Amino acid sequence: MSVPRSEYLSNVWANDIFANRVLFITGGAGTIGSAQTRALVHLGADACIIGRSVEKTEAAAKEIAKVRDGARVLGIGGVDVRNFDTLKAATDRCVNELGAIDYVIAGAAGNFVAPISGLSPNAFKTVLDIDTVGTFNTIKATIPHLIASAARNPNPNPNHSHQTGGRFLAVSATFHYTGMPLQSHVSAAKSAIESLTASLALEYGPLGVTANCVSPGAIEGTEGMERLASSLVGRRERSKAVPSGRWGTVRDIADATVFLLSDAGNYVNGTTLVVDGAGWRRQGAV
Ligand code: HXC
Repeated sequence: MSVPRSEYLSNVWANDIFANRVLFITGGAGTIGSAQTRALVHLGADACIIGRSVEKTEAAAKEIAKVRDGARVLGIGGVDVRNFDTLKAATDRCVNELGAIDYVIAGAAGNFVAPISGLSPNAFKTVLDIDTVGTFNTIKATIPHLIASAARNPNPNPNHSHQTGGRFLAVSATFHYTGMPLQSHVSAAKSAIESLTASLALEYGPLGVTANCVSPGAIEGTEGMERLASSLVGRRERSKAVPSGRWGTVRDIADATVFLLSDAGNYVNGTTLVVDGAGWRRQGAV
């Protein structure tokens, strides 16, 4: 059975805002990535999702395509964001089969729960490689397509005022705003991603490209957060610690994503949208 809209998208968006646009997303079969992809496909986009597992990526693409009649969703497995050449080949295939890349989401990430004393140098480096170098590789492989898309879709475009192109979005986290026990590797990696994204905005803003991050707090059902919460404190206590009184949902992140990639977000550039119910303001010393 397909996923009900209310689980991945609120009711406030017009259905065609991403018509004739193509999303390229790493980690698109993951819990947050698949909700972001579903939301954009629901609102008219075609999509190419990239992942390491062939089986998981292809199955997710098939499932996501069900949200809209005529949607084209390409799943390319066997791609590790640490390997630039396989990523570049995937972008070429996306452009050949779907015609363009208008939006890029860098969502691929690696995580495990470990104190600094439990991290080997290679363990620390592995997360930096997947998250930070992987985001750099994703930018490097897709930026020519984002520049071309921005040139086709100047903002604001009087003829297509609700349509956009040339948007980059990285998925960050909130740990580096305070530091986080058992997550020094992820915290360092995401901090670098936010810095990299800001530089991207400065270098390519003049060409019409926007580059931002979305920074999820504790999100229901994600692998990383479930693992971390069970290692730190009881889940009930953690929910109470979020000022908004609940954990986030993947829909919260998908809605923020839609905003940033839509025409409504066209002057938001070089920044991070934190979507965490103000949770980071109380985190850190847990
Ligand atoms: C300490 C660990 C470890 C652990 C692995 N390592 N797990 N060290 N504690 N629990 C060490 C290994 O011993 C090794 O170091 C090094 O890390 C690399 O391990 P490999 O297994 O060879 O790496 P690889 O196969 O590339 O796998 C990468 C991975 C894995 C990150 C370790 O967990 C993975 O593929 N994860 C992807 C899926 C995932 O994590 N998704 C959740 C993302 S959530 P040595 O020294 O022995 O060689 C997320 C959001 C964060 O990122 C924010 C919310 C919480």
